[in-house]
Amino acid sequence: MRVVVVGAGYVGLVTSACLAELGHEVTAIEIAPERLSRLQRGETPILEAHLDELLPRHTTSGRLRFTDSYDPVCDADVTFIAVNTPAGVFGQTDTRFVRAAFEAIAPRLRPGATLAVKSTVPPGTADAFAERLPDNIVVSNPEFLRQGTAVQDFFAPDRIVIGAQSQSDADALGCLYQSIDTRVFVTSRCSAELAKYAANCFLAMRISFINELSHLCESSGADVDELAQVIGADRRIGPDFLRAGLGWGGSCFPKDLLATIDIARLAGVPHALLDAVYDANVRQRQAAARHIADATRGCQRPVVGVLGLAFKPETDDVRGSPALEVIGCLLEQGFQIRAHDPQAMPNAAAALPNITYCEDAYDTARGADVVLLATEWPEYIELDWQRVRELMRGDTIADGRNALDPRRIAEAGLRYRGFGRASTTLASAIFEEARR
Ligand SMILES: NC(=O)c1ccc[n+]([C@@H]2O[C@H](COP(=O)([O-])OP(=O)(O)OC[C@H]3O[C@@H](n4cnc5c(N)ncnc54)[C@H](O)[C@@H]3O)[C@@H](O)[C@H]2O)c1
Repeated sequence: MRVVVVGAGYVGLVTSACLAELGHEVTAIEIAPERLSRLQRGETPILEAHLDELLPRHTTSGRLRFTDSYDPVCDADVTFIAVNTPAGVFGQTDTRFVRAAFEAIAPRLRPGATLAVKSTVPPGTADAFAERLPDNIVVSNPEFLRQGTAVQDFFAPDRIVIGAQSQSDADALGCLYQSIDTRVFVTSRCSAELAKYAANCFLAMRISFINELSHLCESSGADVDELAQVIGADRRIGPDFLRAGLGWGGSCFPKDLLATIDIARLAGVPHALLDAVYDANVRQRQAAARHIADATRGCQRPVVGVLGLAFKPETDDVRGSPALEVIGCLLEQGFQIRAHDPQAMPNAAAALPNITYCEDAYDTARGADVVLLATEWPEYIELDWQRVRELMRGDTIADGRNALDPRRIAEAGLRYRGFGRASTTLASAIFEEARR
């Protein structure tokens, strides 16, 4: 089929490359000139596993093209909107880019062609587009891929969701994915749109839940890792998204949670649980920053070495990164920051030009009073902690991801601080503060 994907970011680019791999003829439309010219030169502008194999394969095969012209929409069987939907100033979804894309696409769609909204948008958005396009099929097709494993998720998703007015409308999009073996849920357009927000809110809630439980573990002498294993073994609960740490981030969870709160507020329905999920996450970052301040009290111009800047491993994306938020708190308090990330330093430097970027983890530890593990890249897990100890000025390792082995760190003569794992931990800073 002839497919157009509008927006060549994390979602649009992965969708384009993977649909080309499935045999479709794909044109990706991108308006950012720098991103477009990199794509046209054959470069992969984002870090995503396997994308650098798929892109050259299909630009060479001719099944994948990049342009800033909307003309290919005129011949397309399916046009996807996959542009960004950032948070507005009040947390609402800013649909400006989706609406602009729609206005460019709508007059070019041929009768009978399908418009699929892949961007995360408030319920009612696709219905409103459908009203404007009586001669076309309009469906919602929310995206559930995870950055870092997006290509894998495309070919082996947990489910495909198509919000459509009828089964035949859903089939007009579903045939694109027919070689993918997964469950396809056909729902109303509004259900599909809200399901996307609900999924992200639920995952964020699990992390905020285990983070709050980590504080309870500290006050009661329990261990949060053991707790997560025990409750995660219950099939009704499952083991994922139950690791305590600096909290959730990224380009989607924060904005989608805030957007859902806004949707609920506008509808006049309760959202106390969603507010609590958000607040618990903010407290987690503050607790980490406060603990680091406590650990460096009395130090002259304290230095923190931050390991990891991406919002999670295997991506170069720093949007909503917990690391950057904690660094922001520390900079306000006059800390000097040395930092390293195997992939995300160029993106981080655009947001944080005034910190020192280091060659590797050991260089980051040089002269640091505290080393904070902010992103659990595999290369940080098995460091030579003796060498880290020798390079540091202080002796505290703050494990913001509960990913390190506290025993090995103690053996190197360092003080380990995690969340809900040892007797004196990051989260206990919250209790100390509350008692004061
Ligand atoms: N990133 C994720 O992990 C993820 C996962 C699921 C869903 N989503 C949702 O998918 C959507 C896209 O997210 P993303 O992370 O890919 O965003 P992104 O910012 O990485 O990419 C969006 C791209 O669209 C381009 N663009 C904007 N307006 C355009 C227009 N009118 N014509 C052509 N190109 C245009 C931008 O220049 C940018 O390159 C968002 O709604 C997001 O919430 C993202």
